[in-house]
Amino acid sequence: MNPPTTTSLSRSETLGLLSLSAASLAIIANTFQGDGEPLVASLALSLVAFALAYAMIRWLGPTFMKAGFRGRDLSKPYKSEVPECMGAVCAVVYLLTVIAFIPFPFYKDIVAATSGGGNRDVVLQAEHVNEGRFLHRFPHSKLASYLSAIISLQTIALLGVGDDLFDIRWRHKWWIPGLASVPLLVVYFVDFDVTFIVIPLQLQPYLGELFDLGPLYYVYMACIAMFCPQSINMLAGINGIEVSQCLVVALLLAFNDCLYLLTPYPHPATDSHLFSLYLLLPWIGVSCALLMYNWYPAKVFVGDTYCYFSGMIFAVVGILGHFSKTLGLLLVPQLFNFLYSCPQLFGLIPCPRHRLPKFNARTGLLEPSVTPWSPEKQPHPLVVRGLILLDKLRLLKVTTDDKGLFVETSNLTILNLWLVWRGPLREDRLAWEVTLLQLAVGLFGLFVRHKLALLVFKEDNWGAVAE
Ligand code: UD1
Ligand code: MG
Repeated sequence: MNPPTTTSLSRSETLGLLSLSAASLAIIANTFQGDGEPLVASLALSLVAFALAYAMIRWLGPTFMKAGFRGRDLSKPYKSEVPECMGAVCAVVYLLTVIAFIPFPFYKDIVAATSGGGNRDVVLQAEHVNEGRFLHRFPHSKLASYLSAIISLQTIALLGVGDDLFDIRWRHKWWIPGLASVPLLVVYFVDFDVTFIVIPLQLQPYLGELFDLGPLYYVYMACIAMFCPQSINMLAGINGIEVSQCLVVALLLAFNDCLYLLTPYPHPATDSHLFSLYLLLPWIGVSCALLMYNWYPAKVFVGDTYCYFSGMIFAVVGILGHFSKTLGLLLVPQLFNFLYSCPQLFGLIPCPRHRLPKFNARTGLLEPSVTPWSPEKQPHPLVVRGLILLDKLRLLKVTTDDKGLFVETSNLTILNLWLVWRGPLREDRLAWEVTLLQLAVGLFGLFVRHKLALLVFKEDNWGAVAE
């Protein structure tokens, strides 16, 4: 899985990447000359993005280390450092890719007459813009949404690199993605401004079919934009897990998008799902390249930039594609990890700088990391009751002394909890198991979305009502 440690690409790697890029560029040139199938172009560009990210991560590693972007792998017996913040490389490659993609999905407004000075006095719309399923092109209003997504993503990349540089404190970090969502929300307001939500059938007698959240809808969207990046950044700390969870979520979202494209009849939500695919495919491409370096034993770390950027992509497609509830179903492990972490995040239990599992150098395995308690400093009595209850439910490991005083409690993360359940595991084994858990939960979420949603909503958006 892992490439060699040198900074230059081997002969076979160079040949492989060059052939992949050449084949993809040939496909892109072909789609551009003809009517152009945007989806095919997006796939081909994503392969180029994979090749570029793979090469650039290798070349730029030492440069990043020289600039101070380096981190020590805390779960290894040796104390070597590896380049940190490689998500920034992925973000740059991704942004270039989605910008280069603009001519493919948006049709041209050809200027027929102009009074000069850049005025577009008479504009002709290109013909045949709606031919076929995949030849379908978007009008310029959709370009505004696309560009707002790019601005939000650029902002989060900038703020993410800032976080990796300055190691911002958690209570301040929380707001970073909220700031980055502003461009998205502003364009949503100008372009769409639909703030209704569909009420579940059981509540409709009291609240009606639709409920207007008004400005609160924008707060809801900002919360999604804050939750996705931070919750991914919190499910972290072992080699590969940041990227593998994002890849699973992105692949499941793309699979969900394909379900809408493969219906035998044109579907009202096709545009939203095509749009989502265009933003997801290049991210899948660069994430695959990053995973090859970040998987156990990691040659690079991804940095907060990767977690923020990835979470922001999910938020952007969920918001602009109007499937934020489906997104929520795919992020259940992250939601659980966040809720489970709350006692530590809100200071009821001390929260160390790192809560990642503890490496046992003797066995080479990971064990749950713990918060130590002294006889003088015990948790508040109410917290003690809560922790004992969690211990009884096997949701925590509490160690007490012979007087019944707390000695240590396992840190409240899903990774530690998994180790409480499964016993000590090797790092890659833990990463595999949690990734498969993410996949299983996500697939179940999609099943709920497509098979059980009708129990709660009259029409799902296979009909006409957007989520
Ligand atoms: C979040 C978690 C923190 C966890 C950290 C791990 C919360 C509130 N914060 O903090 O508990 O310890 O992520 O990323 O839940 N590292 C490894 N191996 C890896 C990945 C990271 O040892 O596979 C270490 C490296 O020293 C690396 C550092 O973690 O330099 C990166 O930590 P950072 O992403 O800055 O931590 P936070 O996101 O602030
Ligand atoms: Mg982090």
